[in-house]
Amino acid sequence: YVLGIDLGTSSVKVVLVDEKGSVSGEAVREYELFQPKAGYSEQNPEDWVTQTLSAVAELTEKVSISPQSVKGISFSGQMHGLVLVGDKGHSIRPAILWNDTRTTSQCQEIVDVLGNRLLDITKNKSLEGFTLPKLLWVKQHEPEIYEKAIAFVLPKDYVRYRLTGALHMEYSDAAGTLLLDVTNKEWSEEICSAFSISAALCPELVSSFDCVGTLLPEMASSMGLAEETKVFAGGADNACGALGAGIVNDGAALCSIGTSGVLLSYEEKKEQDFRGILHFFNHAKPNSYYLMGVTLAAGYSLSWFKNTFAKEKKFEEMLQGVSSVPIGSNGLLFTPYLAGERTPYADSNIRASFIGMDGSHSFDHFARAVLEGITFSLHDSLELMRTTGKKEINKIISIGGGAKSELWLQMQADIFNATIVKLTSEQGPALGAAIIAAVGCGWFDTIEDCTETFIQYEKEFSPIPENVIVYEEIYQIYKDIYQQTKELN
Ligand code: XUL
Repeated sequence: YVLGIDLGTSSVKVVLVDEKGSVSGEAVREYELFQPKAGYSEQNPEDWVTQTLSAVAELTEKVSISPQSVKGISFSGQMHGLVLVGDKGHSIRPAILWNDTRTTSQCQEIVDVLGNRLLDITKNKSLEGFTLPKLLWVKQHEPEIYEKAIAFVLPKDYVRYRLTGALHMEYSDAAGTLLLDVTNKEWSEEICSAFSISAALCPELVSSFDCVGTLLPEMASSMGLAEETKVFAGGADNACGALGAGIVNDGAALCSIGTSGVLLSYEEKKEQDFRGILHFFNHAKPNSYYLMGVTLAAGYSLSWFKNTFAKEKKFEEMLQGVSSVPIGSNGLLFTPYLAGERTPYADSNIRASFIGMDGSHSFDHFARAVLEGITFSLHDSLELMRTTGKKEINKIISIGGGAKSELWLQMQADIFNATIVKLTSEQGPALGAAIIAAVGCGWFDTIEDCTETFIQYEKEFSPIPENVIVYEEIYQIYKDIYQQTKELN
């Protein structure tokens, strides 16, 4: 067996996978998100460690296997979050997460200091979600904490460090820090020195498939695993989501809806330059990349809607009436900017809206409008890929929350005007992490051999031409909402 661990924003999910790619068991543990001030989003890194240990322990007990039968483990994790490690080997302040928006002035400072060099080196824009602005924020607002840090790491790198005692960062996550020279795969001395960031703070870089060590004895025993279990570096959750959906060849694209939502396309050529209009990051598959647009509040919009208006219902119950509402929710539109928006607006101040309400609208219209609004927002990223990248994207694998409902899958096909593919066993980024461990353990000669064995397509959803036309008209109105309301926020 191998274990794939996905450290998400709301929970950690652990899957146990055998050599054929069958999932023998899974366990999930949640942790708290702290929002001490507007725009702040933090978690306690020690909660991640405790909950990961407890999820793995539950799983190994549940499936009752011998500790030695788990040969390797690897990780997927929420991207960009800043974790500062002190000299005792523990985090010294709460982690500042990818959806925290306190760093607008640090983002401006990065642009003022680096100008176009930022895009030349990192291939990405200066955005609140990324790690460098968070590091500058701590340096400026909490200098005594910054001084105590011996290294900065990203969420899953911290958990892996606590499990093994070995501190590393791997390329697919380092790409989202704004400190990595993305094409040369090294920390940028130019950026570090422009902001007086000591090179000692940046951990040694490794590849996703590198074995970085084995488990510390006390960690192994608390999880029911053997000390000699090999630990592989792992990847950013979006890179692992892509791996777990077989996005490892040119032309492949992914729609993944978790707390955030992403539209992602596989890229092989590092020379490509999209000037930051979409994110361009290193893939977990060595020497390859992906292009990505992000909706900050995708699954989060739906869970906000449920918690606020239908707390007592399950998601399926809440969405039961949606199929009886016509396409376009009778003129009701929702923009999912609950936490600002990343792609295409890079605007952390914009806020969400329902627009076009009239007396005919019921709860079901609102629920449908939320699904449509999230999908329109992801369509913004797809449109950018189709125009800026001059790509023909006509087949997209859908994973996460968006793949749990056939109605939503058909909606994606109609709004994206592309065939949507649903996978047989949907394990998302956790499966990507398991694939890294399986290939790392030498079970397969190539990554493609492994993805072909582990991943099966269950069903395709083709766009329905008349729906495509109706949605295209509504999408044009949706796009105007941002332009016409941004001044109000
Ligand atoms: C990607 C991003 C999010 C997080 C969510 O740039 O910020 O998708 O990775 O975990």
